[in-house]
Amino acid sequence: MAEDALERNPEGSSRAELSIRKVGVIGAGQMGNGIAHVAALAGYEVELNDLSRAQYDAAIEIISNNLGRQLSKGKITEAERDEALARISFADGLEALGDCDLIIEAVTEDEDIKRRILTDLCPHLKASAILASNTSSISITRLASTTDRPEQFIGMHFMNPVPVMKLVELIRGIATADDTFRTSRAFVETIGKTVAVAEDFPAFIVNRILLPMINEAVYTLYEGVGNVEAIDTAMRLGAHHPMGPLQLADFIGLDTCLSVMQVLYEGLADSKYRPCPLMVKYVEAGWLGRKAGRGFYDYRSDPPVPTR
Ligand SMILES: NC(=O)c1ccc[n+]([C@@H]2O[C@H](COP(=O)([O-])OP(=O)(O)OC[C@H]3O[C@@H](n4cnc5c(N)ncnc54)[C@H](O)[C@@H]3O)[C@@H](O)[C@H]2O)c1
Repeated sequence: MAEDALERNPEGSSRAELSIRKVGVIGAGQMGNGIAHVAALAGYEVELNDLSRAQYDAAIEIISNNLGRQLSKGKITEAERDEALARISFADGLEALGDCDLIIEAVTEDEDIKRRILTDLCPHLKASAILASNTSSISITRLASTTDRPEQFIGMHFMNPVPVMKLVELIRGIATADDTFRTSRAFVETIGKTVAVAEDFPAFIVNRILLPMINEAVYTLYEGVGNVEAIDTAMRLGAHHPMGPLQLADFIGLDTCLSVMQVLYEGLADSKYRPCPLMVKYVEAGWLGRKAGRGFYDYRSDPPVPTR
């Protein structure tokens, strides 16, 4: 990626014009490591937090491999890879995020965990800091209400895998200030992503449409209409989807899929969003998809084999 592509995207926002210099990312899982990757590559200093140093080290290894892939495809230079890696450091505890201008929360999709982190985090932040959540489905207004700065709180929903996917949904809570929205939008543009603005309703736009489709695919499996291979093949070749819905569920993580369906079911009070019992069973078994080595496919063999 050329330096001016990093500095200024077609929409016109440049990093130099922004008040954001340092970005904190809480949660170094699939999404958090991707967010740290793209922010560091765009020139931001990044503090990456997780429960342990080991989780951070695992994330750095993934980021390093993903940067290596971009390098081998000629998308970035060796110097850009090295500089990006050098910009990321371990935030040992939430207090280490105290000098960040923007903090993006990307921990497990569980409202209690997110609320606890936000409550613990706020006393450490500088007054001007903007807080964003990468939640897939939880109310931004409700999360904002647990902080000391609802007007500086926003939903910033990245797509998986972050370095590849162009979209970021921006979701304003009821109190989100115009300035917060403008700065967040400009930040997203400086990392080369495109914004879609969504209202604060359960699961926003992408997951409101995508997750019921995945849930229906699991019902199709549960009811024996087709096996894993038939369902995924049918949707790849019959609907021209780049991957089947069960493969996609494994990729997202079945725990995240289930949480989103629960938020839709409870938030919209409509039985059409009832999570499929088979999805619940897979999550209870710890078969969470690719990140756990097993979901609708078993990834311990190469190529992965369907589990039903
Ligand atoms: N997986 C997807 O496709 C996808 C897409 C968009 C948004 N999201 C959202 O992003 C968020 C993270 O999802 P993910 O797929 O990266 O999950 P993940 O399971 O890969 O990662 C979650 C990380 O949060 C960490 N964590 C948990 N509690 C913590 C705490 N108290 N302090 C610090 N770290 C903590 C875990 O150790 C883990 O590393 C969720 O809100 C999810 O809904 C996921």
